[in-house]
Formats: sequence, C-alpha cells, structure tokens
Amino acid sequence: MTDLLFSGVQPTNNLHIGNYIGALKQWTELQHRYHCMFCVVDLHAITVPQDPALLKKNILDIAATYLAVGIDPKRCTLFIQSEVPEHAELAWLLSTIAKTGELERMTQFKDKSVKRGENVSLGLFSYPVLMAADILLYDTTVVPVGDDQTQHLELARVLATRFNSQFGETFIAPQTLVQKTGARIMGLDDPSVKMSKSAASTYNFISIADDADTIRKKCLKAVTDTEGGVAYDVMKKPAISNLLTIYHHASGISIADIEKEYAGKGYGEFKKGLAEALITMLSPIQKKLSEYTSDPAELKKILDAGCRTAREQAEKKIKIVKEKMGIGR
Ligand code: AMP
Ligand code: TRP
Repeated sequence: MTDLLFSGVQPTNNLHIGNYIGALKQWTELQHRYHCMFCVVDLHAITVPQDPALLKKNILDIAATYLAVGIDPKRCTLFIQSEVPEHAELAWLLSTIAKTGELERMTQFKDKSVKRGENVSLGLFSYPVLMAADILLYDTTVVPVGDDQTQHLELARVLATRFNSQFGETFIAPQTLVQKTGARIMGLDDPSVKMSKSAASTYNFISIADDADTIRKKCLKAVTDTEGGVAYDVMKKPAISNLLTIYHHASGISIADIEKEYAGKGYGEFKKGLAEALITMLSPIQKKLSEYTSDPAELKKILDAGCRTAREQAEKKIKIVKEKMGIGR
C-alpha cells in the first residue's frame, strides 16, 4: 500500500513564518515522497466566531498560499474541507465513539476555552473529532503537523483503533510527523509563547505577506536575552535560540555555522542578517502569491479538481463506515 499524507491549515488571518517553517515548508519537501492531500480546514475555523466575508477571502488566500510556497497541484490534491460533506458526516459518526473525558483533556481546548470564558461552542469541544475524521476518511498514513497538534493526532489514532475493534478493520491509525527543529517557533516579542496569528501584538509574528521594511522593523524589535552572544541554548537564551532557529530555516545554513558567522558580534548585526534572510525566503513566495490571487480562474480550476478527487475517495470510505456501523438501508 502506498503512503498517503494528509494535512491542513485553518483559514484564519494571514499565515506567519511559524506556520511556514512548522508546516508548509515541510509539505513542499514531503510532496516528493508521498501522495499528498492538503486541505483548507474551514469547518475548523468556525469553531470560534468568524466574520463570514473575511473567512471567504481567507479560504482562497490560504489555498493560493499553498500554491505559492511550491505545492504542486499536479502531484497533490488541494481542496476545501467544507466542499466534501463526508468530513462533517464522519465527524458525527466518530463522535459516537469518542469519549467526553478524552476531549476534556485536550490542552488546546483548555487553552482556548479559558480565553473564551462562557462562550465555548460544542464545535470547539469536538474539534479534534472533526480533525480525526479529516485524516481517517482518506486512509491517511502520515500527518505532518507542528508540535501543538500531536495530542489531536493521538486521539485520531485512538479513534481508529477503537472503531476497528468495535466494528472490524476499517481505519488506519496514522503516524505523526514532527520535524526536529522549527516545530515550535516562538513569538518574537515573547519567546515563552508560541508565535501565533491571534497574538495581541503584531510584533509577535512575521506574516508571510509582510513587506521588507516591516520584516526589518519586526526583527530589530525582537526581544533578546539579558546575556549577550549569538549562541544556541534554549534554557539560558530562549530568545536568541528561537531567532537562530528561524535564521536556520530561512537561510538553510546550519545553526552552528550561523553562530560562527556572528561570533563576537552584537545582536543588532545578527538581527539585520536575520531580516535579510527572511526577505530572501519570502519575496519569491509573495510574488507567486500575488500571481495566484490575481488569477482566480486558475485557482478555481485547481480547487475544483481537488474537490472532485477528494469526494470520490470520501464517498467510497463513508459507505464502508456506515455499512460497518449498520446505519442506513
Ligand atoms: P494553525 O495556525 O493553528 O492553523 O496551524 C497551522 C499549522 O502550523 C499546524 O501544523 C501548526 O502546528 C503549525 N504551527 C502553528 N503555529 C506554529 C508555530 N508557532 N511554530 C511552528 N508551527 C506552528
Ligand atoms: N487542527 C490543525 C491546526 O490547527 C488543522 C487541521 C485540521 C489538521 N484537520 C487536520 C492538520 C488534519 C492535520 C490533519 O493546525
């Protein structure tokens, strides 16, 4: 059996370099090793309130970003989650075997619900079941994600195994793929929290769409550690270690070689180098992004084809699942 890789990103705001380094950049490399499905998970996005008009725009922007970073639609299936109704359907079926205690333990749910106070939807609670449905629907064997998603992946494995033992062999328990460095890019304004689109300050992140001047400004303002010296040491120097990780991913130069290059030099000079490395990494992506957003017909063609391919497989699988569960005629 050939390996199938599945992953997705929520269409909320612009993507930042944490998303790029932690997810999309990996995908462009993995597409040469696996058959890949990349999904824009809009049903996940609405587990917290969204502005409908903005959401619609973001869905296409994320799809265009997939292409701009170099995902090849000839090799991979690119599609929008809500256009394949079997995702929601399988999520319901799986929710009947998921346990509420398992979902209560999810740290992402705990974090998000603390922030929302009373305003926690049932959808936010069952979010990981929908994610399991995304993955199990296609007999996925490999799922690359940032390290914040590993607990959700574990639930997908648990649900696959539980379903199989209750109803007979149906699903594949997928493997999680987390890269060694860059799985958790931290905020530029606070290296103790992960870089996030929803951060209070825009100095927390660099967006994939930020222009050169903004990138330079944000790099210069990035917090550094009290102890000087460009050296990687996550415990003693969390801020510079995070910046070194970003530099490494932006330039392809090893962390050891970057340390050598800046030995005896100050943080100011290092930050200037970092900004230029980021600009070099992002400018070709930005150029392609504007090409795709200015040619909606091409994007539509790719997403329509992706939807057809995904639906074909999803319809087959959901039939089997319903048969095993004994529902329908
Ligand atoms: P999200 O923004 O939560 O939809 O995440 C999209 C993808 O980017 C997921 O695979 C995340 O694990 C990954 N990701 C998000 N934030 C970061 C970060 N700060 N560092 C590394 N990966 C991240
Ligand atoms: N929950 C993931 C995130 O926020 C997005 C996601 C939804 C996903 N379904 C998925 C990732 C399936 C991998 C596989 O990053």
